Amino acid sequence: MQITTRKTGHSGTGRMKTLKHVSLEERCNRILRDMEGSLTARDRVGIQDFVLLDAYTSESAVLDNLRKRFNENLIYTYIGTLLVSVNPYKELGIYTKKQMDIYMGVNFFELPPHIYALADNVYRTMLTETNNHFILISGESGAGKTEASKKILQFYAVSCPSTKLLDNVRDRLLLSNPVLEAFGNAKTLKNDNSSRFGKYMDIQFDHMGGAVGGHILSYLLEKSRVVHQNHGERSFHIFYQLVEGGEEDLLRWLGLERNCQRYSYLVQGECAKVSSVNDKSDWKTVRKALSVIEFSESNIESLFAIIASVLHLGNVTFVADSQGYATLNNSPEIHWLSKLLGIPAQVIQVGLTHRKIEARSEEVLSPFTVDQAVYAKDALAKAIYGRTFTWLVNELNESLANKDSSRKTVIGLLDIYGFEVFSVNSFEQFCINYCNEKLQQLFIQLTLKSEQEEYEMEGIEWESVPYFNNKIICDLVEEKFKGIISVLDEECLRPGEATDMTFLEKLEEKMGGHAHFITHKLADQKTRKTLERGDFRLLHYAGEVTYSVVGFLDKNNDLLYRNIKEVMRQSKNAIVKHCFPSTEPDSKKRPETVATQFKSSLVGLTEVLMSKEPWYVRCMKPNEGKQPGLFDDVLVRHQVKYLGLMEHLRVRRAGFAYRRRYEIFLQRYKPLCPDTWPNWKGTAAEGVECLVKHLGYKPDEYKMGRTKIFIRHPRTLFATEDAFEVCKHELATRIQAKYKGYRVKGDYMRQRQAATKIETCWRGMKARREREKRAWAVKVIKRFIKGFMTRNQPACVDNTEYLAFVRQNYLTRLKENLPKTVVDKNTWLTPPPIMQEASQMLRKLYTRHMVRRYVQGIMTERKAQLQLKGLTSSIFKGTKENYPHSVGIPFVDTRISEEDIHIKVYQMIRQERIKYSVPVVKYDRNGFRPRFRQLIYTGSAAYLVEEAKIKQRVEFNNLKGVSVSTLSDNFLILHVQCEDIKQKGDLVLQCDYLFEALTKLCLVANKHNFIKVVQGSVKFDIQPGREGFVDFKSGQETMIYRAKNGHLMVESTRTKSRAMIQN
Ligand SMILES: Nc1ncnc2c1ncn2[C@@H]1O[C@H](COP(=O)(O)OP(=O)(O)OP(=O)(O)O)[C@@H](O)[C@H]1O
Ligand SMILES: [Mg+2]
Repeated sequence: MQITTRKTGHSGTGRMKTLKHVSLEERCNRILRDMEGSLTARDRVGIQDFVLLDAYTSESAVLDNLRKRFNENLIYTYIGTLLVSVNPYKELGIYTKKQMDIYMGVNFFELPPHIYALADNVYRTMLTETNNHFILISGESGAGKTEASKKILQFYAVSCPSTKLLDNVRDRLLLSNPVLEAFGNAKTLKNDNSSRFGKYMDIQFDHMGGAVGGHILSYLLEKSRVVHQNHGERSFHIFYQLVEGGEEDLLRWLGLERNCQRYSYLVQGECAKVSSVNDKSDWKTVRKALSVIEFSESNIESLFAIIASVLHLGNVTFVADSQGYATLNNSPEIHWLSKLLGIPAQVIQVGLTHRKIEARSEEVLSPFTVDQAVYAKDALAKAIYGRTFTWLVNELNESLANKDSSRKTVIGLLDIYGFEVFSVNSFEQFCINYCNEKLQQLFIQLTLKSEQEEYEMEGIEWESVPYFNNKIICDLVEEKFKGIISVLDEECLRPGEATDMTFLEKLEEKMGGHAHFITHKLADQKTRKTLERGDFRLLHYAGEVTYSVVGFLDKNNDLLYRNIKEVMRQSKNAIVKHCFPSTEPDSKKRPETVATQFKSSLVGLTEVLMSKEPWYVRCMKPNEGKQPGLFDDVLVRHQVKYLGLMEHLRVRRAGFAYRRRYEIFLQRYKPLCPDTWPNWKGTAAEGVECLVKHLGYKPDEYKMGRTKIFIRHPRTLFATEDAFEVCKHELATRIQAKYKGYRVKGDYMRQRQAATKIETCWRGMKARREREKRAWAVKVIKRFIKGFMTRNQPACVDNTEYLAFVRQNYLTRLKENLPKTVVDKNTWLTPPPIMQEASQMLRKLYTRHMVRRYVQGIMTERKAQLQLKGLTSSIFKGTKENYPHSVGIPFVDTRISEEDIHIKVYQMIRQERIKYSVPVVKYDRNGFRPRFRQLIYTGSAAYLVEEAKIKQRVEFNNLKGVSVSTLSDNFLILHVQCEDIKQKGDLVLQCDYLFEALTKLCLVANKHNFIKVVQGSVKFDIQPGREGFVDFKSGQETMIYRAKNGHLMVESTRTKSRAMIQN
């Protein structure tokens, strides 16, 4: 037989079509991203699907993978569509609303394994295919089954459509859990909230996917817990919740005290208080849940009355009378029982201490011994509780029932004990393990069926693969007349002394030689050592389990005496009345044994399940200590075995390890072949064919179905995946490069566009400005020309602007071309005609301004100097030829320093201060011989000095005048008043500093117009009455000589200086 995963088939187009929000393309992309994403990280996080394990037959390999994942907090792993879950014993933060959203509507293999992925896929498949499903959750006690089922329920509560009506159903579905857990769960050594019953819950959905109803089936409640608990364990939660949390009034009414220690049924395990359980708050939850589920107040009262009755019953004690029969003192318990159950105390008392037996046609009451009475009392307590539990489940079903008869599809949740193997295994384990065999059988049938269907659908030849079919074991247990249950029932029912040992003997008799059954007697030498005499061993599909027959008969009988049932029938408590109906088959017909009942219920369950599509969750616990992070290899290995994981894996892996729809496979791996990358033009199947050929798949490594490729070995897939990983990087680089190029190009284009736009705008603006400027210029030029043409007309509109411009222009230019000095007479801009007058005025103004500025700027000495020069100018300007030369030569105070004037001279003119002195050449009056002399002025006279001698003193009063020529010689003739012959006559002198000496003379003598500038000859007095002449003339060169006429001839060169021209 060829068996592999089946659900992958359902994850195809049909389901995808329903996922409206996400496009196919987007989903494909998501698949590429997430699907076998973790294949890449498989070294660290393990493989997320055991089917892809190469060494799939190796328990160690499975264990290694589980451990790897557990250490990474990855508690979920698939085997195909089966979900393996390892209890983390800590909050992982993976059950949030956000996580639910992530998993909603996503294909099974797109995301890492999760209970939500499974729940979602079941839901979607149900909606798409309109068929029924169930999720089987199995595992050891404490492995997380109930938690898993709650997570699924919560997921549906969030993901299903919501209306007011639907929300009501949803709340009831959710709240049925705490109620069921209160009555059916208890603290055990393995789990503080251990479900002590098997539960199958149907959730019904309408065609829109709304949860519209539910139904619960319960299996094999562990009633014995009511009367007995092992050390460290408790009875059902509800007892403790009532005692701890019940309101005062309620407790008073029930006759209870708020102290668990007071009730013998609650203290057997000596641990009424558990830290992890909060009975008080749980009580509130249960009370609220009961109201939401709409239990009537009277029913709730009756329910608590029963719970209290059980507690009171537990406290009933018997005393042996003289004959050894059990008697009851009129104890308060009986009183409360009577009150709460509504049965007369006397009737209860008799019922608890007697049993009715039939003697021929008569019925007589036979008294109990104390032991028998205790047994009967416990049996009653168990019966009451067990039947009340059944009633409760029925009530819940009432409340969850959907009255609408339209077609529904369902998802069943089966939270049931997995294989149980303890050191001592009894009747309960036998039932449980039988149940698991049945479920395995179901799995095989369903899986094989679906596998075969898929192969057929895909047109692939069916290859048979060996697997272990456990039907043989199921038959061993349940076969009519021959099976273990039949033998057990026979032993229970047959008259005579039947015991557990006789049962064992019968088994040996009937089963001897069966390959899966051994007892001490039947075993070979070696095996015998591992078996007790009272044991039998079954070789279950998941492994061997040794059962001890002790208690088998008793537990199977679950005897409740007839008369006590009759007592209960009289009850006024509605629930008890309902639980012990008068229609119950009478005693004469023995009721069905527990095993048979269980078998029938399993047959019923199998029928229910066979018609549905199966999904599996296998729960495991990583350690016995409920500790997070601890992975106990031995314990997990044990569970791997007894959960049948290896067998399951083998069945799943029988044929092909991996299969995927062509589209998905091609989409992921197409980059590996140049022909399929980037786009394949043909069909997906052809594409895959081309791709695998290119990859070099060998013909026996894969098969091409109608819609899927089937790959036989994981290594083929891994090699492909590894190649893809390498290729992905190259592709990523290429795509990145392309993308970057595209982005940069885009940027560049945008920038260029922007630049062009800016440029255009700028140019436009410039052009507009230019145009405006030109227009303006034209206007200005026109105005200018017109102005120019009319410039000489009187001021009018046409020329005012031009004239203003002319004015301004002239003024501006004038400003830059003003004369720098006062003496600069040439520099002055020629004005335009209209500015003639203004120009003249300006010129005057400016000259004045310069003069003022100049005058303000000159020093006192310079001023004095200039005054002198002014004086000189007033005398000589324009009269003497060489005057201009002298203008630039500054006057000094005196030309002869003090030390150069002989001391004697000083002494002689002591009383007069010397005001000026200058060297001169004196020409003799006779003969005109030149002599060097000093001319010295004092305040009153001029002295002609030769060395220490004063040659001549001329009083200023006596100075008649001074003559100079108009020419450029340096001669001066001082005319002296000469009354006396002895007196010396006029002086003919030549002085290099002629102008200076004469100006000073004017100043000192205070005579301003006694200088005469004479043309031609100057007559002078040699002595009174005797005249001499000095003739002046211009010549080629300067010469001084005595002319033939006896005159002194002074010839001087003609000078034509600038100053002369200017003047
Ligand atoms: N997925 C989980 N995440 C965190 N803790 C968990 C998870 N599953 C289980 N647990 C813890 O383990 C405990 C036992 O789980 P649960 O009651 O579901 O076990 P079970 O398989 O139903 O056992 P039993 O057969 O005794 O009923 C829970 O109370 C919870 O503390
Ligand atoms: Mg449970």
